[in-house]
Amino acid sequence: MSDDRLIVALDLPNVLDGLELAKTLGDSVSFYKIGLGMLTGGGLALANELKQEHGKRIFLDMKFFDIGATVEAAVRGVAQFDLDFLTVHGDPHVVRAAREGAGGSDMKILAVTILTSLDRDDLDASCIKAGDVADLVQERAGTALSNGADGVIASPQEAALIRALPEAEGKLIVTPGVRPAGAALGDQKRVMTPAQAIANGADHVVVGRPIWQADSPKAAAQGILAELASPQAKTPNH
Ligand code: C5P
Repeated sequence: MSDDRLIVALDLPNVLDGLELAKTLGDSVSFYKIGLGMLTGGGLALANELKQEHGKRIFLDMKFFDIGATVEAAVRGVAQFDLDFLTVHGDPHVVRAAREGAGGSDMKILAVTILTSLDRDDLDASCIKAGDVADLVQERAGTALSNGADGVIASPQEAALIRALPEAEGKLIVTPGVRPAGAALGDQKRVMTPAQAIANGADHVVVGRPIWQADSPKAAAQGILAELASPQAKTPNH
């Protein structure tokens, strides 16, 4: 059995390349994230194929945000498929609507707090209230979890702050912005290694480019899996 704490982001240009990568990674990877970039190119069909025909777990990263009725309808639509994680923005009305739309399905609703690409200047430009970004992330995470989210998306730096919240007891923390030591950062600014993210309280790490852009994606994935199996990736008691 492969370690499903590693989620590979399939941010490839098209579905055929995505399927090819999944085949290359084979049994070493059991969990994939499919996002908006692939939506119009058959991303949902790929999600279903990987789930139904290859037995993979699927994280559909749609980051829904709209009026409650629309979010509820969209999530109800996705919940017909047997997928594992779905993202929505962490605003209370969005999370409550998503919870309603998910009904009795096993699909986990994960809330986005504040996108890790945004800094204080960006938040000012969007008229988001004053305060330290980390404090706002923690507050939004607590609100999303108390409104019914099954977990949150957070940078590895934020994971420990969120894990400390009483509302986070038994909830999932999923962290992108993870880089094995020595890997290129790309546009990620605040990164940690997979082991550090897990030690900070993350349940899953999402890794994209360090795997799919590697000369040997399989070797890159196996390197990360070895790191996750090391004592440095010890999960804290929570
Ligand atoms: O290639 P890389 O490892 O940076 O990919 C990270 C994945 O996680 C991408 O699919 C990106 O869209 C997603 N993501 C992120 N930061 C967030 C939320 C999602 O990097 N805050």
